[in-house]
Amino acid sequence: MRRLILLVLGSFCQHAFGQAGPYVRQQVDPAAADRGKRVYTQFCINCHGALAKGTEQGPDLIRSPLVLRDRLGNEIGPALKKLANHKTDLTNAQVADLTHFLKDQIEATAKNRNPEHPPNVLTGNLEAGRAYFNGAGKCNTCHSPSGDLAGVGRKYSPIDLQQRFLFPRRSKPLQVTVTPSGGQLVTGSLERIDDFSVALRDATGEYRAFTRGPNVKVDIDDPLTVHNQMLDAYTDQDMHNVVRYLESLK
Ligand code: HEC
Ligand code: HEC
Repeated sequence: MRRLILLVLGSFCQHAFGQAGPYVRQQVDPAAADRGKRVYTQFCINCHGALAKGTEQGPDLIRSPLVLRDRLGNEIGPALKKLANHKTDLTNAQVADLTHFLKDQIEATAKNRNPEHPPNVLTGNLEAGRAYFNGAGKCNTCHSPSGDLAGVGRKYSPIDLQQRFLFPRRSKPLQVTVTPSGGQLVTGSLERIDDFSVALRDATGEYRAFTRGPNVKVDIDDPLTVHNQMLDAYTDQDMHNVVRYLESLK
């Protein structure tokens, strides 16, 4: 019985996340990642390599934009069905487990959790990092080295700094604006959203829920979307330069 409830919940969340778009980053579930590792070892490792970083037989999946964009299999599932020579009969649950494994590998790579090579994430060039921050990276459109990021180099170890820059955490709730058909728009902190309804808490602290439909406009303003998209754009060199620069903000 309990198992059934979990299953139903699981598929509901998967659906909700699938629809929710890039503003919900997939959190790694360690148990699922563990199961995913077994699926990966059985069906994928020969070509994509032990660390999913690729071999002569298959590309790097850690740096694949498709994998980075994926949420619980919404990209990888369809891709597996289309790619030649790929196993097409994995269940949705197996694909979801695989994604947890791959996300775990991505985060491990970002943190450089490799005991054999003590991580040195400060190999970049400080001035190139500063230039990227104020130029191509457009970091200065949201951050300031003397404002919100003042002292980040003191606050975090270099490894944690890199992690926070690549996978920032949200410290404030998402802001959502709902415009019901023919009604006044309502803005507040997002409480929950799925295909059918959206709920928020407005400035006065009141909980408001709306049924979604074609005439109900829902706008979510998520500054972290940009961070997620940027993952596809950084070269390794940009990343090292930026971390070196951020580390200098003492
Ligand atoms: C026989 C070797 C082989 C096996 C086994 C294999 N792959 Fe692949 N995979 C490849 C090759 C080669 C490509 C690139 C093909 C292409 O782009 O058309 C690829 C591409 C991909 C891509 C697309 C990457 C991108 O950025 O476009 C994903 C995702 C992927 N594989 C996942 C998997 C998963 C998950 C498994 C295990 C269930 C798996 N592969 C098993 C060889 C393999
Ligand atoms: C569209 C706005 C936006 C852009 C552009 C942007 N960031 Fe962020 N960044 C954020 C938000 C929002 C957070 C999460 C902060 C929070 O909620 O406290 C964040 C978090 C961070 C953090 C973690 C801070 C901490 O204390 O945990 C770092 C470091 C960071 N960003 C660096 C960068 C760098 C470097 C760039 C450019 C390559 C960049 N950001 C571009 C909005 C942005």
